[in-house]
Amino acid sequence: MTRKLFVTTALPYANAPFHIGHMMEYIQADIWVRHQRMQGHEVHFVGADDAHGAPIMIAAEKAGKTPQQFVAEIAAGRQQYLDGFHIAFDHWHSTDSPENTVLAQDIYRKLRDRADGSLITTKTIEQFYDPVKGMFLPDRYIKGECPKCGAKDQYGDSCEVCSAVYAPTDLKNPYSTLSGATPVMKSSEHHFFKLSDPRCVEFLEQWTGGERLQSEVGNKIREWFTKDEQGAGGLSDWDISRDAPYFGIEIPDAPGKYFYVWLDAPVGYLASLKNYFDLGKAKARGEPRSFDDFIADPAVEQVHFIGKDITYFHTLFWPAMLQFSGRKVPDRVYAHGFITVSGEKMSKSRGTGISPLKYLELGMNAEWLRYYIATKLSSKVEDVDFNPDDFVARVNSDLVGKYINNASRAAGFLSKRFGGRLSGDVGVEGRVLLDHLRSGHADIERLYDERDFGRALREIMLLADRVNEYVDQNKPWELAKKEGQDAVLQDVCTVCIEAFRLLTIYLKPVLPALTTEVEAFLRIDPLVSTDAHRALGAHTIGEYRHLMQRVDPKLLDALFEPPAAAMVEHPKPGGEEIAPVIGIDDFVKIDLRIAKIINCEHVTGSDKLLRLTLDVGEVDATGQPRTRNVFSGIKSAYEPANLIGKLTVMVANLAPRKMKFGISEGMVLAASHADEKTHAGIHVLEPWPGATPGMRVR
Ligand code: MSP
Ligand code: ZN
Repeated sequence: MTRKLFVTTALPYANAPFHIGHMMEYIQADIWVRHQRMQGHEVHFVGADDAHGAPIMIAAEKAGKTPQQFVAEIAAGRQQYLDGFHIAFDHWHSTDSPENTVLAQDIYRKLRDRADGSLITTKTIEQFYDPVKGMFLPDRYIKGECPKCGAKDQYGDSCEVCSAVYAPTDLKNPYSTLSGATPVMKSSEHHFFKLSDPRCVEFLEQWTGGERLQSEVGNKIREWFTKDEQGAGGLSDWDISRDAPYFGIEIPDAPGKYFYVWLDAPVGYLASLKNYFDLGKAKARGEPRSFDDFIADPAVEQVHFIGKDITYFHTLFWPAMLQFSGRKVPDRVYAHGFITVSGEKMSKSRGTGISPLKYLELGMNAEWLRYYIATKLSSKVEDVDFNPDDFVARVNSDLVGKYINNASRAAGFLSKRFGGRLSGDVGVEGRVLLDHLRSGHADIERLYDERDFGRALREIMLLADRVNEYVDQNKPWELAKKEGQDAVLQDVCTVCIEAFRLLTIYLKPVLPALTTEVEAFLRIDPLVSTDAHRALGAHTIGEYRHLMQRVDPKLLDALFEPPAAAMVEHPKPGGEEIAPVIGIDDFVKIDLRIAKIINCEHVTGSDKLLRLTLDVGEVDATGQPRTRNVFSGIKSAYEPANLIGKLTVMVANLAPRKMKFGISEGMVLAASHADEKTHAGIHVLEPWPGATPGMRVR
């Protein structure tokens, strides 16, 4: 029976290019999709950008762009990754789209207007609000002092210094990281999806209990929503609204309210599928119906590939939203673990890990990575480690050593000696080997279907080992030298080519581009699953073409080099990172004043300092004008005579400091680059005309 599959991967946030974690997810899903297609199943495989939410809105603002421009630029960079790693999405769309707006609002209305009682409720809640920015602050934009140990600049959920866990409202001297302002508590009406409603609980108990989830995921989820004997725990209602300004979809009949990004994000799966249907692309895959008819069909299987960090959204909120808006619910949610690099978690900010684009730019073969990642994947939620030595070993000794090499050798003899003709019958020994290879077929297909790719590939490599034993026993290179052994040589080489074709069928979901080359070289139609049960017979193959190189380990060194290009692209301003955010309260502690340089002279015995006499408009107790004595390290840049009479800016409330040459009563402001070696120069600040001594700089 032909399966009809609707397959998705998680929708990546549209605030950054793809990283290796995304590619791993796409490779996993793509292998599974290709496997299904080889079985003759109808698969519609779509993705989209997750465009909405506060972080993207704020990042766009910082970049001086509209959120729409900002996400469009990220989206424009997607295809090179997908093409480069042979990810065969049928369609890519965006959650910031008309389809998504209509679908999300429709789902919301259906939940709200249910005849058996609304599943939407409103509640007024109090939250931190940034009075300068004029917006409610998501927790991640609030910092302050740890209520326990007093450490400064801690986030609103936990302290990095003493590990205390608390709520943002517990922070001492909280400030907004967006404006530095002290946030105020402000109340606002929020919309909630009543997940705690008995209808939802009952549905989710049933939905999470079956075959839809990996058993470890199902068990974990049910822990979340089963109440203990005291009635504690269980599901709570889900806050689905955010106040303007917000980059998102407006909530119907609620001016100034938007859907929280995680409400409309999974709806994006449907939006992308709808756009794909509306463009006529589903017809090309043999689906004659409309989006509405297709998605209402209970025979259609809806399959989501996701990372372990977002299971909560996909196994509680999303199925409940669909169920109670009268839609088809997901049939499978397949969660995977995270990819680590040499055992370390990848960090986007520190730039460790593997850049997928750099991998391609170095000319590394995308199918090495597909193969390597596939060897590490199972049906369980396990993390996957990218280990460079292991990568080289798996590719060179297994993929190239066991699979590719035999084909090139056998094909060489066949084309030189027999015009590329295969033997019609290969004799008993050859048939036994080929039958053995065919006998693995069902198991391998089952393992692919269960996403147990690592085991599937181990089985395939065991079969490749058998082929290598056969070659070692029959030694075609010796047969080629012997008189009267032509027929045997042709048989042995035919067996090798047949074996290679069978192994290629098994590897095709992982190595699609290589398979295309193989199909051309063997002069055969695109391989499908059932081809494993036929033989080529007396067929003529083409010239062997080079199929796959070994990995040069030097490439991995290059891959892991610190990204020099990134340094050029993102130079630090003035050679140093901007200092941690301070509140306005911190800034006003520094009293900056316009100062007139009354006198300036060299300091005997110092090759760095100049002595400045400054007037900031002060008088002493007797009413006499008072000046300040300040030592400043600007001798390398200025002749004293050129400074006298000029205005500058000084820190007027800096504690006096005793130096070797006298007391310094303040500090003059000057600009310089962090790297004095490459950027010489100190530049004393001078105010614009009109400023007079004593004026405060604020
Ligand atoms: N926008 C949400 C998903 C919305 S789905 C309706 C999101 N985006 S994400 O860009 O942060 O992550 C996209 C996918 O990449 C998720 O499935 C996530 O688990 C996966 N990965 C992110 N880092 C990963 C690794 N280091 N390893 C493997 N997958 C990882 O979450
Ligand atoms: Zn602390």
